[in-house]
Amino acid sequence: MNDAVLSVIGVRKEYAVGSGKTHGTLKALGGIDLNLNRGEILALVGESGSGKSTLAKILVGSLSATAGNVHVDSTPVTTNRDRATSRRIQMVFQDPYSSLNPRITVGGMLAELLKFHRVVPRNQIRAESIRLLNVVGLNEDALTAYPSQFSGGQRQRLAIARALAPRPEILIADEPVSALDVSVQATILELFSQLQRDLGISILFIAHNLSVVQHLSQRIAVMYLGRIVEVAETRELFANPKHPYTRALIDSIPRMSAGAVNDAFEVDGEPPSPINLPSGCRFSPRCKLATPACRSIDPALTAVGPNHAAACIKADQLEPYVFASRTTAATNGTPTTNTPTKEALR
Ligand SMILES: Nc1ncnc2c1ncn2[C@@H]1O[C@H](COP(=O)(O)OP(=O)(O)O)[C@@H](O)[C@H]1O
Ligand SMILES: [Mg+2]
Repeated sequence: MNDAVLSVIGVRKEYAVGSGKTHGTLKALGGIDLNLNRGEILALVGESGSGKSTLAKILVGSLSATAGNVHVDSTPVTTNRDRATSRRIQMVFQDPYSSLNPRITVGGMLAELLKFHRVVPRNQIRAESIRLLNVVGLNEDALTAYPSQFSGGQRQRLAIARALAPRPEILIADEPVSALDVSVQATILELFSQLQRDLGISILFIAHNLSVVQHLSQRIAVMYLGRIVEVAETRELFANPKHPYTRALIDSIPRMSAGAVNDAFEVDGEPPSPINLPSGCRFSPRCKLATPACRSIDPALTAVGPNHAAACIKADQLEPYVFASRTTAATNGTPTTNTPTKEALR
């Protein structure tokens, strides 16, 4: 039995947008159900605008949901969290430049957090700060320095040390490598693996493309326009994708050149506006397999195998997935000119 440390149950988020005649409701999250299992890295992957950051903010309590619940260890948590609850879920942001206060030294930043969360007695704050820096691959010298004195990768390490200071059980990492140089991305991904291995921490790792998380996460949840459309173990998702959108995302991987694991998805067509969602399946306007039924039935996320769920009424009828080239440029370091098949969308 999987043991969920964090459960998202029917979470919806709507924003009121525009005014007067142009006002409308933007449905950023249209009912999210998702579990993060204890000790796992679960990837949450989706195009820009699919609602990933909105969900992340709700999980850490900085944004309230329109409906639904978030549970930590089966206990509901809301936006008004006491210190003990806020300690348990910490966030790492995409941009390590703007997420650190430039006027406070690293030692000052860590000390403030360690005091606030009463992690260690006051006389152990320095030792604990050094321990945190060592965990993220930095040393004691960093204590007296300011964020501006570090490179992008080092700043992301500092941001991770800050998130670890309260000794959270859960880390929410919102595209933590998307703003980094390609050469640095792999080292930060390795750090997340190490945190999982050494600290047993549970991590929701958000990314906008699949190649970043292919070798990092144990499971992947694919998001499309405010919904989870497929969730499975990583190997199963790549071997046996059941949603046409997931297939298109996997097919788009070889188009990325060797160094560009950070490129965005390339799926034909633009996603519809979350202010004016299509009827039925929200992927149907871009799906080459869509039938009239797809334009009227809004499919729920349904089990399609052990630990595998997909939201597509045709999931059981899809041809087995055949990927044109299993050796992708993104993983073997050679740019490719091969044009991927997109049979799933044809
Ligand atoms: N404060 C806000 N007011 C109105 N719309 C918002 C707000 N924040 C996000 N959105 C919209 O919600 C949708 C999801 O955004 P976001 O969660 O940032 O997506 P992602 O992180 O996947 O790129 C987008 O359409 C975005 O424009
Ligand atoms: Mg985002």
